[in-house]
Amino acid sequence: MAKTRAFFTQLSVVAAVSLAHVPAVFADAPPIDPDALKRLVHQDCGSCHGLTLKGGLGPDIRPETLTHFDAETLEMMILDGIPDTAMPPWRPLITQEEARWIADYLLTGDAP
Ligand code: HEC
Repeated sequence: MAKTRAFFTQLSVVAAVSLAHVPAVFADAPPIDPDALKRLVHQDCGSCHGLTLKGGLGPDIRPETLTHFDAETLEMMILDGIPDTAMPPWRPLITQEEARWIADYLLTGDAP
């Protein structure tokens, strides 16, 4: 019984510590810069997908060809890449919010 209580005490300490981190993460997230992200899409993504995103080494990623994806799936593909292909993970370079912005941008073809 005493062991169980010690376990739960530890658990609540862990929970408190991880909750304490949440606001800090939000505070550190840089604001979205649409112009910079558009540049990244057309230059960096464009180096494989074509400057107009019509396809090159990577496939066509214009809105009309991405209709079968939702924003969440695209966000994960952008953050984690596509394993065993040339599609790289962008997680080291951009935030989750920026990946979501790019996903929405790809789906709508313009800034949301
Ligand atoms: C080094 C080349 C390269 C770069 C840079 C790159 N991609 Fe890709 N991408 C690929 C390749 C190759 C595929 C196809 C993978 C496969 O065979 O499924 C792909 C697939 C995709 C797909 C899935 C398309 C589909 O219909 O299956 C999306 C969406 C995508 N990339 C978005 C992006 C975005 C957004 C960026 C920039 C943040 C980016 N890519 C940068 C090479 C690249």
